[in-house]
Formats: sequence, structure tokens, C-alpha cells
Amino acid sequence: MTSLRQRPGAAATRILGIGSFQPERIVTNDDLSQLMETTDQWIRERVGIVERRFAAKDELLVDMAVTAGTLAIEDAGLEPSDVDTVIVPNCTMPSPIPNAAAQVAERIGIKAPGAFDLNAACAGFCYALGVASDLVKAGSARTVLVIGAEKLTDAVDPLDRANAIIFADGAGAAVVGASDTPEIGPVTWGSAGDLVETIIMREHRYIYQEGQAVYRWASTKIAPIALEAIEAAGLTTADIDVLIPHQANLRIVEAIAKRLRAKGARDDMVVADDIVYSGNTSSASIPMALDHMRAKGTVKQGDAVLAVGFGAGLSYAGQVFIAP
Ligand SMILES: CC(C)(COP(=O)(O)OP(=O)(O)OC[C@H]1O[C@@H](n2cnc3c(N)ncnc32)[C@H](O)[C@@H]1OP(=O)(O)O)[C@@H](O)C(=O)NCCC(=O)NCCS
Repeated sequence: MTSLRQRPGAAATRILGIGSFQPERIVTNDDLSQLMETTDQWIRERVGIVERRFAAKDELLVDMAVTAGTLAIEDAGLEPSDVDTVIVPNCTMPSPIPNAAAQVAERIGIKAPGAFDLNAACAGFCYALGVASDLVKAGSARTVLVIGAEKLTDAVDPLDRANAIIFADGAGAAVVGASDTPEIGPVTWGSAGDLVETIIMREHRYIYQEGQAVYRWASTKIAPIALEAIEAAGLTTADIDVLIPHQANLRIVEAIAKRLRAKGARDDMVVADDIVYSGNTSSASIPMALDHMRAKGTVKQGDAVLAVGFGAGLSYAGQVFIAP
């Protein structure tokens, strides 16, 4: 039988740089209570959000992705021409054609890269990070730019108090490339298609979710996925310096942290709470939290970071990586 030549891949990968972008407009809980029957106290207690950012009408998902991606390339000390693949995990492009990735790449100045969107909703960043790392290890790509970007305000009924208080806009990016030492652990992913109806966008218009069902699922089923990701990376829970779950609801974040601590995670493990001032930005939430935490000094270079995303599908994914 004819055997085909294969491209040599990298032995290992790491995150080379990160960046993020948020729109300027801050929307407080009191602002929302002018529009619907809700209160600052209810939102803080049930969801943990104090304020979030909404994009301007003419500020698009693609615009936010371009800024976050450019910053991540600069942070990596690279030029756009060094990137050969662009993945934009998202679930809020206004229409499925064209995808975001090719136009984002063009505007950043990356010429003719492999470019595709990836839809795993709020698990999108962890899925895409896993794909990017494997592409580099397989030799299909050299340097991959992953940008989680969402304009959720386009996908939410602005008067639906169950959703309008949660979701927000923004973008977060990471550059993935070859490394001498393995600094991105294997991705652990899966799905629960039997729960598909619990988060759904009907006729490509507004998100609807069964909040309590999703809450129960996320606060019980995601910690075991996180534990699998730790084991896959050859670590123990005590090795984890930073936990960044998808920023869906602060109570879900705290429930995941509690379950991990019951399994040996340290009391001083830093737990992301970026949702408090950013809201739920779906596939952007994990890289945005990482970037904000590094800026604040709560994530330091070399920290072992456990990321775990979950959302519509229902889909979930997690991995450990070393903070750049
Ligand atoms: C959506 C969510 C915040 C709703 O909180 P909840 O405590 O489950 O609220 P419920 O829908 O059970 O409603 C409880 C009560 O609060 C009311 N309520 C709902 N939204 C409200 C709001 N924004 N302000 C004030 N009251 C509200 C309801 O009408 C209900 O009132 P009732 O008891 O008089 O009927 C919560 O379920 C949640 O965060 N779920 C997970 C969502 C998620 O993470 N999705 C993942 C997407 S990636």
C-alpha cells in the first residue's frame, strides 16, 4: 500500500501571549432595573454580577475580536505574519456566512491563514485551545491565534430579565505555538445532547434558557470534568494555582471551586470572579478573565491554570495550561 508523507509536528505547545477587549459602555444593575422588573440586590445575590459591558450598535463581534487578537500577538512578541491559523470560537455571529475568522485575520494583517469559527457556545474557548494545541502538535499549523468573541446583546431580548441581566459583550485571545516543554495539557471534552432544549436560540433570534436546569447541571457535572483534565495533565488538584471556570454565574463558579477543594484543591487556589465586572461573555469569558487576572497580578507567569467551559449544546471542555 502507498504510504503518504506526514508533516512533522511540535513535541509540545504553550500559550505564547494573551489579550482581551471590552466595549466602553458600562451597564450597571440599576441601569437594567430602569428597563425591567429587577433589582441590584437580586442580581448580585443570584448571579454575582455588579456591572457588565455592552457593545455599541455599530461595534461588531469582528471588531472586538480584531482588537483582542492584535493585543495577543503583540503580547507574544510576534508579528501577524507569524500566525498561520485563526480560530474564532463564538456563537453570536449575526449570520453563519461569512465566518468571523477569515475577516478578523484579514483585518489583523494575517495573510491567507487557515481560518474557521468553532461553535461550542460557552465551552468554545477550551474546545478551540485544545484544537489549536493539537494542530501544532500534528504539524497542521505552526502558530494559532484563538479568539473567543461574542456580541451577546444581539442575541438576547433586552427586556427578558432572565437573560438580559447575565449576558454581555467582549473578546479574549490567546496565541498558541510550539514549546520545548509541554505547557498545555490534554483537553477533556464532551456533551450532553439530551439537555439540548435547556439553552436554545430559536429561529436565530434570542437565547432562551431553563435557568434552574442549567444551574443544577453546571454546578454538579462540571467539577468532575475539571478533575479529569487535571488527571490528564498528570497533576493533582493540589498543583492547581488558578481556577478559571466559564463565568456564567458566580454561584456556579463557587460551587465548582468548592467541589475541587473537597478533592484536595488548595485553599489559596485563586478562583476567577471576572463575571462580577464583566458579566457572562460566553466563549470570551475564560481568556478575558485570564487577561484581567494577569493585569491585576492574581495570575502569575508559570502558574498552573485550570480552565473549564460549559454551555449550550450542552457542551463542555477543560484543560490545564501554564500561564504565559
Ligand atoms: C438564570 C438564573 C440567574 C435565574 O436565577 P434563579 O434563581 O434560577 O431564578 P428563577 O428563574 O428560578 O426565578 C426565581 C424567581 O426570581 C424571579 N426572577 C427571575 N429573573 C429575575 C430578575 N432578573 N430579577 C428579579 N427577579 C427575577 C422569577 O420570576 C422568579 O420569581 P417567582 O419565584 O415569583 O416566580 C439562574 O438560574 C442561573 O444563573 N442559571 C444558570 C444560567 C447559566 O449559567 N447558563 C449558562 C449559560 S452559558
